[in-house]
This record gives sequence, structure tokens and C-alpha cells, in this order.
Amino acid sequence: MTAQILDGKATALELKNTIKKQVEQRLEKGLNRPGLAVILVGSNAASQVYVNSKRKSCEEVGFLSKAYDLPITVSQSELLDLVDQLNNDPEIHGILVQLPLPNHISADTVIERISPYKDVDGFHPYNVGRLALKMPLLRSCTPKGIMTLLAKTNIALAGLDAVIIGQSNIVGRPMALELLAERCTITVCHSKTKNLADKAKQADILVVAIGKAEYVSGDWIKEGAIVIDVGMNRLENGKLVGDVNFAEAAQKAAWITPVPGGVGPMTVATLLENTLLAAQLSAR
Ligand code: GUN
Repeated sequence: MTAQILDGKATALELKNTIKKQVEQRLEKGLNRPGLAVILVGSNAASQVYVNSKRKSCEEVGFLSKAYDLPITVSQSELLDLVDQLNNDPEIHGILVQLPLPNHISADTVIERISPYKDVDGFHPYNVGRLALKMPLLRSCTPKGIMTLLAKTNIALAGLDAVIIGQSNIVGRPMALELLAERCTITVCHSKTKNLADKAKQADILVVAIGKAEYVSGDWIKEGAIVIDVGMNRLENGKLVGDVNFAEAAQKAAWITPVPGGVGPMTVATLLENTLLAAQLSAR
């Protein structure tokens, strides 16, 4: 079998065009632009790339984008003060604090300080709890974007065996909750998991988010599986690759996301979708 490509770049573009039209309709009705505040602490190179892409995408769809670039020495209380200020800013509907934060700042404390209604990353315990209870409000961007991509396959998800490699708060855990809500049977694997390859081979849907270049080889893939590669790794020769060996996996899978052009663009487009939703919620 040669896999069909789940084209995140094209799907993200469709989503952005829909959002752009909805912003125009808001403005015609006299409503304000959705506003997103993106906070970056320090100068981590990868974080700078992600944040720039998020800010640029905001402008593309007509959102208000406010940028806060704070020095690595900023204190936790100064960062919390900024979050409080943005929680009370009527122009701002979404607040995103780019992770990771430096060690002297507790990410949990900062995330919990963001108003759950402005938590467009979907990381606040309130929003994760709502997803766990099948009453989602603001859903984490990468897993929600993956659900949008899965819908493109037109495959019924209920009853499928889903295996997720990676247990992070950003991807693995909310991904498990998303797929469980669609009545998949879920296995979450991590660094202590035994017989990882055997578990991966059971997967009708395999989601990999471990940050290890081409770690998953073709013989881990069940014939006809859907393979979702969340990894983004730069090889020494400069090439960008995922956590899955794409060439090998594409020989076995029915559907596969490429890297780049798969999950990455969907995360950003879904952040915009969440910010529009937060703007709509704020009017209620
Ligand atoms: N760092 C890596 N991914 C993400 C993300 O989706 N949101 C935030 N805020 N930080 C991240």
C-alpha cells in the first residue's frame, strides 16, 4: 500500500480562509476584531519561529495581534501581572504564553492564571477537565487540529484502536481525550512503556509526539493505518523530519501526515479558530 497524504498545509489554508471571512462578517456587524496576545519569554530559537508564525497568521486573517517579548530574567510575578492585565483587556480574546518557560517560572501557575475563556491553547485545567468530561470548550490546538485532519479521511473513528506515543500535556494527554470522545480505544505509550513496537503495530490510528527524528520505522506500522506525525526535528544536514520514518511508513499506511506540511500548520490554524471562538464567547 502507498499512503494518501493528509495535507495539513492545504487544510490549514482552507481553515484560515474561512476564519478570515468570519472576521470580515464580524466587522460588518460592528463587532471588534478577535485579538490574540502572544507572550514569549527569552530567545529560544524554536520558540521564536513558532511565535512569529502565530503572530503572522493572526495578521493574515485580520486579527489584532499583540506581541510581548520579555527578557529571560522576567520574574514570575511580573509575568502573572501581565496575564492579569490581558485577562482584563477587552481588545484581547486569547492569551498564549509560549512554552517552555525558564526554570524559575512555573508554567502550571502561569497557565492557571489565564482566564479559562481566553485560554486559546486549551491548557488550563478547566478546559482540559471539560474535554475529559466530553463537554469541550477551548480545546488544545495540536490535538484539535489533528481531529480536523482525521475528519478529512472520512473514516469512521468509533471502535478504532488508537495508539499515542508521548504523554505530554500539550499533545499526548489531550489527544487521548479527543480520540476517546470519538469512542476510539486508547493506548498511551511513554518512555517506560514495554514492547513499544508491538503496541504501535496494533494501531489503526498511530499518533507520534516524542521529538526523536525518524524513531518509528515502517515495521511498526499496521497495514492500512492512519499515521499522524507530530514530530519536527532538524537533522545535521539541515533537513526537517518527523518522529516517523516517512518513506517506510508510507509503504504501509493508508493515510500519513508529512513533515513539514502536516500537523504543524494545523496547530497554528486551530489557534486562530480558538481565538475566534473565544471572541464569540466573550460576546455572550
Ligand atoms: N510549545 C510547544 N507547543 C506549544 C503550543 O502549542 N503552545 C504553547 N503555548 N507553547 C508551545
